[in-house]
Amino acid sequence: MSQHLSDAPRSAAAPAAAAAGHRDWWRDAVIYQVYPRSFADGNGDGMGDLPGVTARLPYLRDLGVDAVWLSPFYASPQADAGYDVADYRAVDPMFGTLSDADDLVRTAHGLNLRVIVDLVPNHCSDQHEWFKQALREGPGSAMRDRFHFRPGKGAAGELPPNDWESIFGGPAWTRTTDPDGAPGEWYLHLFAPEQPDFNWDHPAVHDEFRSVLRFWLDLGADGFRIDVAHGLVKAAGLPDIGHAEQLSLLGSAPMPYFDQDGVHEIYRDWRRILDEYPGERIGVAEAWTPTLERAALYLRPDELHQAFNFEYLGTSWDSAELRRVIDRSLTVMGAVDAPATWVLSNHDVTRHTTRFANPPGLGTQLREAGDRELGLRRARAATLLMLALPGSAYLYQGEELGLPDVTDLPDEVRQDPSFFRAAGQDGFRDGCRVPIPWSGSEPPYGFGPDAGGPSWLPQPASWAGLSVEAQTGDPDSTLEMYRSALELRRSLPALGAGTEVVWLDAPDGVLAFRRDAASADGGEGFVCLVNLTAEPVTLTVPEGRALLSSAAGGAGTNSDLRGTGGVAVTIAADTTIWWAI
Ligand code: NOJ
Repeated sequence: MSQHLSDAPRSAAAPAAAAAGHRDWWRDAVIYQVYPRSFADGNGDGMGDLPGVTARLPYLRDLGVDAVWLSPFYASPQADAGYDVADYRAVDPMFGTLSDADDLVRTAHGLNLRVIVDLVPNHCSDQHEWFKQALREGPGSAMRDRFHFRPGKGAAGELPPNDWESIFGGPAWTRTTDPDGAPGEWYLHLFAPEQPDFNWDHPAVHDEFRSVLRFWLDLGADGFRIDVAHGLVKAAGLPDIGHAEQLSLLGSAPMPYFDQDGVHEIYRDWRRILDEYPGERIGVAEAWTPTLERAALYLRPDELHQAFNFEYLGTSWDSAELRRVIDRSLTVMGAVDAPATWVLSNHDVTRHTTRFANPPGLGTQLREAGDRELGLRRARAATLLMLALPGSAYLYQGEELGLPDVTDLPDEVRQDPSFFRAAGQDGFRDGCRVPIPWSGSEPPYGFGPDAGGPSWLPQPASWAGLSVEAQTGDPDSTLEMYRSALELRRSLPALGAGTEVVWLDAPDGVLAFRRDAASADGGEGFVCLVNLTAEPVTLTVPEGRALLSSAAGGAGTNSDLRGTGGVAVTIAADTTIWWAI
């Protein structure tokens, strides 16, 4: 489907050369999220692992990304797929060993790929040594101060200390049992009960995370994706919210457990540590804030480098909405001299192929497959739009294959804790976490070494045609479209960090913008044309040539109509065209 319409130079050496020694590399990096459970299984036990990732790094280098972000692989009982860490300095045996992590980082660096590890500082696992000790030592012990333990309310302490709700459903407090067997204090967990929140008012917590940062920086990590970066500091006194269904307020209203001003001192401290190391090590905030302006505060010059743009991820396939979010993101992030970032999918949301296959307004956790063909067409167009924007972009493993969410997983194979906490009404994150297909005609499609071998979530029979092997070399495939786009993004001076977006006149439902190469770089200018309507649209653009189309078999564009001062270009429905001027 994808049309590499130009004869723009294709250089296999470009990714390596571009990554090496590129200053401010993070300002326009394409960062690929590996979800280690589901990327590649090296030992055939049905669970992805670090040797599996290492063996596939050349694939990522050839895809043309700059960095890999790995979701957690620390020692963990896996109550929340590794976001419940029992030991921040150990690799879970299910993923391999510390020496495998070391190998992975060294191999990546040898391929000029950077490695970002996931840091989980808001909470740990209930199997973390500190928490186990806190439970053992009982109320009033020094170890309990490192968490949020409180007596309950009510005559016998039978009610939670406040009205906070867990993000995964139910109260954010669990009652403990004292060493003598009597009902005891409660502890705070914003997520699952197996994920007790740290008390960031305690200096030992600060010291511990400084040391954990150094541990991974010493091992060669190029940065950290910071889980729940907005949650570490809680409002003094842990005040009630006075409102049920708190999930509906998240990201839009101030909360006493999110986005408190005190978090910024932590990131200033961490920035000083990052800056001690050579090679521009970065911090990326997973911060859900009520406004983009609040998100930008995490990116002030002495804090973190990037934050995920969840407002962009949540925007439906609507030209006016997208234009508004793009403009606001560039303005607000530009004001603190931070790059805007763009993301369409990750391990917590329904893949964008499936989101765009469904009517807008359903949110980012879907159970409906929708119109798959429409979803894929829009997803491909959305990707080319995203990769044309100034700043840094995040890809989630498998999106380059156009994978849909698996919306019909049987309940008995699901593992997302929020599915169970919400009694099956919510928590469909397993659908985007199904192991990806690499090759062959039957599950696990090369995910593991053995034909017919296991995979921790079942893969659909329809995925044979979506494997890396099946798509490689097929110019119509989604994989080849991603490869072409990433290569063009490297070779065109107008793309990447570049300059700002200049909007061009366009009919309703169409986005058209120009990006100019910085004068020092010279080279061609660039126009991105996105038709978000269900009909073909013809518009006049500056004279030039088509570089790439998201549409099938050349149906994307017809540029043979010429007018004065420009070229009339016809763009198919739900299609993006990259155009050189
Ligand atoms: C955000 C992570 O992306 C998600 O997967 C996890 O469940 C929560 N944080 C809790 O750590």
